[in-house]
Amino acid sequence: MIRFEQTFMNFLLQHQEKHGRTYHFLILMDAIVSAGKYIQHYYLTGALKGRLGSAGDVNVQGEEVMQMDQIAHEITLHYLKTSGRVIHAVSEESDGIIEINPEGRYFVYFDPMDGSSNIPHGLPIGFLFGIAKRNLEGPEDGHLRAGKEYIAAGMFVIPTGTFTLGLKEAGTYQFHIDETMNFVRPRRVVLPDDPKTWELSFNAANRHTYDERVQKWIEENESRYAFRYLGALAGDFHRLLNNGGMFMYPAIVNHPNPKKNRPEGKLRLMYEASVVAFISREAGGMAVDETGTPILDIQPKKHHQRTALYVGSKKLVEEIASVLRKSS
Ligand code: AHG
Ligand code: MN
Ligand code: MN
Repeated sequence: MIRFEQTFMNFLLQHQEKHGRTYHFLILMDAIVSAGKYIQHYYLTGALKGRLGSAGDVNVQGEEVMQMDQIAHEITLHYLKTSGRVIHAVSEESDGIIEINPEGRYFVYFDPMDGSSNIPHGLPIGFLFGIAKRNLEGPEDGHLRAGKEYIAAGMFVIPTGTFTLGLKEAGTYQFHIDETMNFVRPRRVVLPDDPKTWELSFNAANRHTYDERVQKWIEENESRYAFRYLGALAGDFHRLLNNGGMFMYPAIVNHPNPKKNRPEGKLRLMYEASVVAFISREAGGMAVDETGTPILDIQPKKHHQRTALYVGSKKLVEEIASVLRKSS
């Protein structure tokens, strides 16, 4: 017996119909999923084809290797352009704002390949994106949108074939890629309440460089939870969504070499932190920065702005937020 699965597009069509939404978003999502699949394919065969080396290397076909993140950027831009629905895009791989179509309806903020230290090993990386809508009533006032204004945000964990999408006020859903390269089997994701499965995820090598209050919280709480760290936000966050707990990338403020401090945090607000914060909110969780401010409330001042990030189960994030809000 063949087991037929509901496809992502069918799920989305029904969703749009149920909420009385336009077809424009469908066209945009089709473009993003096409990019996700293309990047997946390119990465999956990357080791075999010698594509995972550094830029300037020569691969087995005698072609000069282009950096994987640059390839993923170009793949994504191609599909965003052909959708005709994007006014501006912001990519981690491009310094400026990318103007695409003045008639477009959406802003797309994306990191085409996140977790670069995993690339030479062919281990999981992420393709993260957030979508906001332009001001349709009057002249557009800029592309810098806070996460709370996103209408959707998602991530592909490549090459594992999983795709997660948060839809504004409609929940977070996960899909798996099938034999025909369709994403199928929508499953609503809700962060589990039971702390038994919760995990903590942070770069443990950095722990003594965190603010003293964060170090103290870790010392007092770490033994209650399992610890996992892959080094690619999408992969680490994917585990968390299913098991619960907290991923954090705190500010680095006590590095023995003060030049290596990162008081503003490492991760990027618009296409990393806000994406997982949005997905997490739609799954019942929350996210804050180093001052305990909700990530989704932060109004970006520049498109590559960084932030510290604490994201995951509401109870845990609230706990650390109350520590962060108290002055040291
Ligand atoms: P990049 O955008 O440079 O690939 O950074 C990856 C991010 C994120 O995916 C990951 O969670 C974090 O940086 C890992 O950083 P560390 O190597 O400092 O732990
Ligand atoms: Mn990144
Ligand atoms: Mn990147």
